[in-house]
Amino acid sequence: MDWVYTDIVKDHFMNPRNVLKQGEEFVADGEGMVGNMKCGDQMMFKIKVDKIKNTLVDCRWKTYGCASAIASTSVLSEMVKGMTLDKAYLVSPKDVNKNLGGLPDHKIHCSVLGDKALRAAINDYYRKNGMEHKVQKEEAKVICQCMNVTDHEIEDAVLDGARTYVELQEKTKLGTVCGQCKDEAITLLEQYIAKHFSK
Ligand code: FES
Repeated sequence: MDWVYTDIVKDHFMNPRNVLKQGEEFVADGEGMVGNMKCGDQMMFKIKVDKIKNTLVDCRWKTYGCASAIASTSVLSEMVKGMTLDKAYLVSPKDVNKNLGGLPDHKIHCSVLGDKALRAAINDYYRKNGMEHKVQKEEAKVICQCMNVTDHEIEDAVLDGARTYVELQEKTKLGTVCGQCKDEAITLLEQYIAKHFSK
């Protein structure tokens, strides 16, 4: 069976850059950990910061995720070196996907762990350095009150392949009681599809 991945994805998967090696001493200024060990998709991201220029000068990461998660985080780790923290914070899965030459659609949800962990590391750096005001909270908003489904869960469902309202309902159970959340859910569904999948 042929690989469905681009050559860039294969290269980053086979030769991942900036991985934290076993026993490596890497004194980080900020550290982020996201995902869930039980699901096997935990991701750690560590950053070193030039405190005068407020730039990310070096980083390391480690994951138990799949080939897409490894390739995405590898390419992300190269992209963000030298960036200001403000700019690095805004790197999206779509930017990463572009730099990889494209991932199969059903694999895009695996690629979001790296940038989530990076944002957690940047926030950790801000907290440790008395810059609480810079910390950006990724608070979730409940869209479906009946089934307690948030905007983050809608975004995750889109990354996991939902393209229609019915598919969104299948994945989240949203809108299955009173139905009042339907319009807002459809608006968000369209926004997240445009955010992650428009070329
Ligand atoms: S608010 Fe979503 S089903 Fe009632």
